[in-house]
Amino acid sequence: MGVSRETEETTLNQVQTPAIEVTNLVKRFQRRDGERVQAIDDISLSVNPGEFVVLLGPSGCGKTTLLRCVAGLEYPDAGRIDIQGKTKFNADSKLVVPAEGRGLSMVFQSYALWPHMTVFENVAFPLRQMKVEKSEIKRRVTGALKRVGIPHLADSHPNQISGGQQQRVALARALVPNTGLILFDEPLSNVDARVRDELRFELLEMQREIGFAALYVTHDQSEAMTMADRIAVLGDGKIRQLAPPEEVYERPATRYVAGFVGTINELEGTVTELHAGGGVSVDTAIGKVGGQVGAGSQYVVGDQVAVVWRPENVRVTLDEVSGVNSWRGSIDASVFVGTHREALIDLGAEKIRAFGMGSKFPDAEAQVSATVSPEDVWVLPRD
Ligand SMILES: Nc1ncnc2c1ncn2[C@@H]1O[C@H](COP(=O)(O)OP(=O)(O)O)[C@@H](O)[C@H]1O
Ligand SMILES: [Mg+2]
Repeated sequence: MGVSRETEETTLNQVQTPAIEVTNLVKRFQRRDGERVQAIDDISLSVNPGEFVVLLGPSGCGKTTLLRCVAGLEYPDAGRIDIQGKTKFNADSKLVVPAEGRGLSMVFQSYALWPHMTVFENVAFPLRQMKVEKSEIKRRVTGALKRVGIPHLADSHPNQISGGQQQRVALARALVPNTGLILFDEPLSNVDARVRDELRFELLEMQREIGFAALYVTHDQSEAMTMADRIAVLGDGKIRQLAPPEEVYERPATRYVAGFVGTINELEGTVTELHAGGGVSVDTAIGKVGGQVGAGSQYVVGDQVAVVWRPENVRVTLDEVSGVNSWRGSIDASVFVGTHREALIDLGAEKIRAFGMGSKFPDAEAQVSATVSPEDVWVLPRD
């Protein structure tokens, strides 16, 4: 019976309606100086029920614009937006459902609470709009305030409580209508660093418990890594990679993604050999480097590429090491950063970074061998 149940579950998963489905979305702005900006450049993305998808990218890459388009606060120039199976925007058929008809909640960086209302009234607001009965409002608001840990603040006004507490109020207000879908625009950026970690984990716990779908904007890669089921790395209005955090980190599709998530060593070079099994040799300033071809790429001998690897994958030893991807050099600088040691190794033609653990990590000026496995080296397009 086990087999048939599994098949059934798989089928159910396949037919589940996405919480959000964005198709070929385009949004342009005209700047004051007349210059046109393509803030969203043909983005397609879906978020499954209960899934936590993070939009990650540097300032100005289009994260807020994409979120505001989904929320109905901004109207795209092209494309389509479906929310929980219902079309809310379609440029082709000129269908536009306004924000209040989209059936979702949003949490902003700026909290956006009504200063003249108490905490209780702020959280009750969406329910009053939905004409929920009074006793039911009382029950649900009390429950939501309890869930975000501030039942004792119900009668306070926003200016009487801290930033972290205000964001808890905004979160309760987003939870209370039970929409199954919440959009977040850098909700923790204005909160004290001390409270940020706490809120991050609480929010994640709530999301897992309640099971709402989340589309969450941040420019903070560690926030993205810890929270996301999948990360969409954005650059210049386009999705550069959409994958689970481990995959974005361990198998970056482009140099842009590799450099944005974590620290990298990168060298430019020319493909000199193609090996069976997908390996490639690249001629660089430090000689031959062996690596793997990144997902979706194919090369021929002579192609101009970049080789990229992470400092934590560099093994540093005092002994001479021979073989592929081993280089002799001297340690230029070595600093202890608490969890590990970071070193800059001078290989002559180039300097590379290496992260290592433990007291055996060589000191500055030591002559060392630096080795990286070809499995940890990615051969990526020059971009
Ligand atoms: N209302 C607007 N008018 C003109 N340009 C805008 C407007 N909103 C956003 N932009 C531009 O669109 C691009 C993306 O902005 P935004 O979505 O806010 O980026 P992010 O949230 O990733 O920092 C930027 O170049 C920004 O200057
Ligand atoms: Mg923004």
